[in-house]
Amino acid sequence: ANEKESMYLVSEYAQKYFSEVLWERELGKAIGLSYFKERGFTDETIKKFSLGYCLDQWDSFTNTALDKGYKLEYLEKTGLTIVKKQEGQEVRKFDRFKGRVMFPIQSMSGRVLGFGGRILTNDKKAAKYLNSPESDIYHKSKVLYGIYHAKQAIAKEDNCYLVEGYTDVIQFHQRGIHNVVASSGTALTPDQIRLVNRLTKNITVLFDGDAAGLRASLRGIDLILEQGMNVRVCTFPEGEDPDSFSKNNSLEEVHQYLESNSKDFIQFKASLLIKETANDPIKKAETVRDIVNSISKIPDRIKKEIYIQECAQLMNISESVLFNTLAQIGKKEI
Ligand code: CTP
Ligand code: MN
Ligand code: MN
Ligand code: MN
Ligand code: MN
Repeated sequence: ANEKESMYLVSEYAQKYFSEVLWERELGKAIGLSYFKERGFTDETIKKFSLGYCLDQWDSFTNTALDKGYKLEYLEKTGLTIVKKQEGQEVRKFDRFKGRVMFPIQSMSGRVLGFGGRILTNDKKAAKYLNSPESDIYHKSKVLYGIYHAKQAIAKEDNCYLVEGYTDVIQFHQRGIHNVVASSGTALTPDQIRLVNRLTKNITVLFDGDAAGLRASLRGIDLILEQGMNVRVCTFPEGEDPDSFSKNNSLEEVHQYLESNSKDFIQFKASLLIKETANDPIKKAETVRDIVNSISKIPDRIKKEIYIQECAQLMNISESVLFNTLAQIGKKEI
């Protein structure tokens, strides 16, 4: 087998091993399984997403894999094992995900590409999630968490919910909403959008109600517009994310919430920014340019025109000024 295939095989083995630890081993059950149950995940959900646990020991996964005949080279290349070589010292090997619950990241066709591992405490000093490093099989800018389980539903519903995290995807599924994927904390990339674009032209971006990511993420959404997709956005109440919200509300309530709170992206951005700059002409001018810039990304001319008309009203500015700004942006890019 070639190199990449060997990396897939060891990743698949790791997924099976971490799941086995979670379900069969005393420590796995007591720590990992309990953690997922406390988060409200059912057995069925935990199995569907092949969740697991990596024991809190230095190298128990690595040693088991080596005993089974998997090569250290591929354990290291996939990042599952961290190998430390120091001059004049014995080679030391560590399990990267030691003591973490495991979320396998699957490709569109279901192959295991890498993992996200969460610490069990709320220790603010340690990184909450640790992810597989970039490798020949895992390119974080090209994968969307949950795409394997969501692809059929995305096509069928002709819409894709884009959430921030692993647990948002999982809890939505458990609640009965299957057309959902996560960008997993990174800024959205054109490759990720392309994965969805093949299945639907409609994306609804769901933001955690912590405002932290909101402003920064608005930029990334222009990339979705560029690909000719229709973008809606929905924010959650302060302190809530799609995981907590769907855990605490019925399917009907979640649908109801999404329906009444999703807004067209351009309208959302225009009303959000204009509120902040209403009394400051200089800032208002910047905001207007910012929004026209987003509109300029939309390939469809008719849609562009409709948005200009709407934003003129929203921002209380004349259409002709907006059209002129649009034309200027167009020239700059040539
Ligand atoms: N993330 C990450 N590394 C971190 C923090 C976050 O990779 N140190 C990614 C994870 O994919 C995470 C996503 O960003 O799922 C969203 O972050 P956040 O909202 O903070 O986490 P939640 O998904 O809500 O996780 P949890 O509910 O387990 O706290
Ligand atoms: Mn499903
Ligand atoms: Mn967040
Ligand atoms: Mn969150
Ligand atoms: Mn959360």
